[in-house]
Amino acid sequence: MTERRRILTGIRPTGSLHLGHYAGALENWVKLQREYECYFLIADYQVSDYADDITRVRDAVWEVALDWLGVGLDPEGSSYVIESLVPEHAELTTLLGWFLPVSMLERNPTLKAEMEAMEHPEDGKSEAKSVPVAFYTYPVMQVANILMPRAHLVPVGEDQLPHIELTRETARRFNRRFKDVFPEPEALVGRVPRLLGTDGNAKMSKSRGNTIDLKDSADTVAKKVKAMFAGPPRGLNEPGDPDENPVFLYLRAFDPNTAEVADLEDRYRTTGVGNKELKDRLTLALNTLLEPIRDRRAHYEAHMPQVREALEAGTKRGRTIAIETMEMVRDALDMNYLGRY
Ligand code: TRP
Repeated sequence: MTERRRILTGIRPTGSLHLGHYAGALENWVKLQREYECYFLIADYQVSDYADDITRVRDAVWEVALDWLGVGLDPEGSSYVIESLVPEHAELTTLLGWFLPVSMLERNPTLKAEMEAMEHPEDGKSEAKSVPVAFYTYPVMQVANILMPRAHLVPVGEDQLPHIELTRETARRFNRRFKDVFPEPEALVGRVPRLLGTDGNAKMSKSRGNTIDLKDSADTVAKKVKAMFAGPPRGLNEPGDPDENPVFLYLRAFDPNTAEVADLEDRYRTTGVGNKELKDRLTLALNTLLEPIRDRRAHYEAHMPQVREALEAGTKRGRTIAIETMEMVRDALDMNYLGRY
């Protein structure tokens, strides 16, 4: 049997996961998990305020694992890896730092936007903070995460593309100068690269409080959809442009009956359709999607030792391949100083 190609991808443990994560990435992970050998990373080192809020990180590790189990990522066929429990990540980050010019970090648009949001928060809730060194260098850590299992594919949300480009560049430089250790990984962006928040904001994000979470109850989903921003105000029988109504973006993303959604769009343009009809339909579509996820999640929540087992076994496998890669890296760099005499 030939070896399966490998996936490494990950998520920051900041809380429970939402529909944006699902449509942007998780859905692809579930689809690809049999075809690839998968490492799913809980990237705790990447939480921007790690040192200020370790309690939250610690809780979120479990939340993320529960959400992954809920969406159906098989923890035996794949590996759930806790980043900080594989210390080789820190070691490889240091070594790879030699291959990346500071200017490449300074130009990284995702990092730039995140640092800007930290220093000048606009959500009206968070207080301004200065950027910790560890946060500034997290894209290098992410390069190390991806190269650690010598991954071939990285299924992620659109905002992660600059980091994958950085990874490819690092792999090329390393391989060219030393030994061919790392595949040049490809990125794969999900069906819905960026899901709007329920308030119509460009991004669904926990800090803005505009998410629909995978673990939300059917009632909560109904309430959130009811309160959802539905474009500029319209009368009941007033035609409108579906592209200006986020409810349609969600219907296109999550309602499996595309023909009926297309019909609805036609009616919306010609005779107008009330928001209630749209929202009732969306609530039904979302709850149909989320129900099996919630059920599986609830099962594991009642069996937390199984969640622990998933994390423990997965992290162990992540560590095994990490040790193997570090041997290859040290060998390529010829860093065995004491071997000389
Ligand atoms: N940066 C990713 C996020 O914010 C999380 C992450 C960490 C990641 N390491 C990774 C994603 C490696 C893909 C590959 O969600």
